[in-house]
Amino acid sequence: MAKSRSTFICQSCGATHNRWNGRCEACEAWNTIVEEAAMAPSGKGGVVTARGGRAVALESLGGPVETAPRFQAGIGELDRVTGGGFVHGSALLLGGEPGIGKSTLLIQAAAALAQAGHRIVYISGEEAAAQIRMRADRLGLSGAPVELGAETNVEDILATLSRGTVPRLVVIDSIQTMWTSTVDSAPGTVTQVRASAQALIRYAKTSGAAVILVGHVTKDGQIAGPRVVEHMVDAVFSFEGEQGHAFRILRAQKNRFGPTDEIGVFSMTGRGLEDVANPSALFLSSREVAAPGVAVFAGIEGTRPILVEIQALVAPSSLGTPRRAVVGWDSNRLSMVLAVLEAHAGLRLGSHDVFLNVAGGLRIQEPAADIAVAAALVSSFTNAVLPMDSVFFGEISLSGSVRPVAHAGLRMKESTRLGFARAIGPAGPLEHADGGMALNGLTSLDSLVADIAARGSRSTRAAAMA
Ligand code: TYD
Ligand code: MG
Repeated sequence: MAKSRSTFICQSCGATHNRWNGRCEACEAWNTIVEEAAMAPSGKGGVVTARGGRAVALESLGGPVETAPRFQAGIGELDRVTGGGFVHGSALLLGGEPGIGKSTLLIQAAAALAQAGHRIVYISGEEAAAQIRMRADRLGLSGAPVELGAETNVEDILATLSRGTVPRLVVIDSIQTMWTSTVDSAPGTVTQVRASAQALIRYAKTSGAAVILVGHVTKDGQIAGPRVVEHMVDAVFSFEGEQGHAFRILRAQKNRFGPTDEIGVFSMTGRGLEDVANPSALFLSSREVAAPGVAVFAGIEGTRPILVEIQALVAPSSLGTPRRAVVGWDSNRLSMVLAVLEAHAGLRLGSHDVFLNVAGGLRIQEPAADIAVAAALVSSFTNAVLPMDSVFFGEISLSGSVRPVAHAGLRMKESTRLGFARAIGPAGPLEHADGGMALNGLTSLDSLVADIAARGSRSTRAAAMA
């Protein structure tokens, strides 16, 4: 029987199909399926047996434990996200949209490490060495002994790396530009990205050099995503930020050697990325004067409390289907909070446009923001200004009750530090409560809505509770 010569691979999620399709059934992306030559099957094929295999020694769980040896870049926020520094021989993926600052972050890390006496190799498949040099010059790093290479062929890169002492860190910018002659697909396709990543990860494991792969992701997933590499590497970091905001957030999505959910906050300045050691102060720094629709959320990112301002605008709609727009939060979660407010607190929001914004370009993923969002919504709806000295946190359940969230003590401690006097959150024992802060314990959404509406102007209050 003749073997099929090619496979059809979705460039967004890596799913394999038997024939071309306009839409990938696995990830539902349009126009992402590309025909690629199938990898030559090795050997005769058929049944896999133990014959010819070699038995390996199995070990017990209780053996000696070695802590992973690490080296730090000396960039506080980066070292925090990696879990205390890069691990020798580990492979990392740094994903993010083009132009967000991945190359800038890595050239800064490379320069810092090189200045500390490590051998660092930076391979760029996108920019010429002169371009990188220009950037380094602008960042004031041209004196750092980073070894630069502009190359895209993985065989050539491995040959280059095998000369001299083993580098401490190798940066590959970006994995989508790499290609190996063992595969005859075009660079950037899933097959090439996967094969190139495999070769570079194998190099990391065998040589002991840490390898960072840069991967571009676009919102519509048009480029062969770093998705297919995610499961092969030890850690996946994503670099995020809103265009037009200077804040950049480095988020650990997977980390075999450290905590996930940890974030590092940077600000993009004229001289590159700078650590933001105190993000709450930054996110609250441009707080406006008291206005309806604004609530401060006491959140937790990783192990660190972060206070952010949540802004809501609820206005009568002129459209048949009112608009719901969210920046920085999950839109399904907003729909849920709106539905609960309507069903259990009697707010008639069905004919109102609702806009929600997390200030500063931060993206919140915690359900603990529910109460802060609800407070901002009710405040805008009833035209009631929330007290400036209060922070909000807590999860809302579909039944309208308020559920406890983790780290209440930590949230309150940070709020006290930043000058807040009152927390409005789930009722319950607060073992770690800070002396200076009062907690208004909530058990249900009703009391929150009633409290806020009581502060509002009379006419809207009547409308709200009608
Ligand atoms: P870059 O690191 O090239 O992004 P990526 O590698 O993720 O594609 O970042 C480019 C952007 O950063 C560009 O829009 C200019 C901006 N930038 C600064 O604002 N300040 C700086 O010092 C540098 C080097 C870049
Ligand atoms: Mg780049």
